[in-house]
Amino acid sequence: MKRSQINAIMRSAEEFIRGRGFYLPPFAFWTPGQWRARGRESAEIVNNQLGWDITDFGSGDFDRVGLFMFTIRNGIPENWKTLKGKLYAEKILIVQDRQITPMHFHWSKAEDIINRGGGRLAVQLFNSTSDDSLADTQVEVSTDGVARTLKAGDIIRLEPGESITLPTRLYHKFWAEGGKLLLGEVSLVNDDRTDNRFLEPVGRFPAIEEDEPPLYLLYADYSRYYGAN
Ligand SMILES: [Fe+2]
Repeated sequence: MKRSQINAIMRSAEEFIRGRGFYLPPFAFWTPGQWRARGRESAEIVNNQLGWDITDFGSGDFDRVGLFMFTIRNGIPENWKTLKGKLYAEKILIVQDRQITPMHFHWSKAEDIINRGGGRLAVQLFNSTSDDSLADTQVEVSTDGVARTLKAGDIIRLEPGESITLPTRLYHKFWAEGGKLLLGEVSLVNDDRTDNRFLEPVGRFPAIEEDEPPLYLLYADYSRYYGAN
C-alpha cells in the first residue's frame, strides 16, 4: 500500500470514529517526531502492539479486501503464565461497505465482534477440521448470550448493538452491508504476528511504498522511530 493511501485512511477513520461518538487514546495522534522523543515510559504501546493497524491483506485493493483496526489495549501472551498484566484486548475496527476480511480463525484468541453502528455486519462461519480446512459440520455460536445453531457456511447478520462470540478455531469471514460500519472487538490477549490462520495465504502486514511522510505511525512502523525499547 502507498503511505499516502494509509494517511488518507487514517484521516477519514479519525473523522468517522469521532462522528460516531467514540474517541481514540492520546498516542493515536503522536507524530513521527513525537515518537522519536518518547522514552521507556511508552514501551507498553510498542511491546503490546497497540495503535494503528491498516491492511489490504495483500490484495492491492483495500476497498474490496481490507480492514482498518486500531488496538486500544492488549497484553502479551506471556501474561497467561504469570496471570499478571492484561489478559484482554480491545480494538476498534472500520469496515467499508462490502469490504471483505478473508476467511480466518485464531489459534488462541477468542473474540467478541460488536456492531457499534453505521451498517449491518455479515459474518460467514465454518468449523475447522483437524487439518485446518473448512468443516461441513453444524456451527454452534452465541450472539449476545443466545446460543444459535447454524449450517456450515451460513451467514449471520448483526444490526447495530448486536455482537457475536467467536471461539478459537472457528473460521470467520466478514463484511459490511448497508453502509460503512464501526465494529468493536473485545478479546483475549492477542499476538497478531502468530495467532491468525487464514484459509488462503494473505499478507497480514502490507509492504508500504513511502510516497509521502507518515501522518501517524502504524504498529509496524514503531521499530523505525522508537528507540527506547
Ligand atoms: Fe478474527
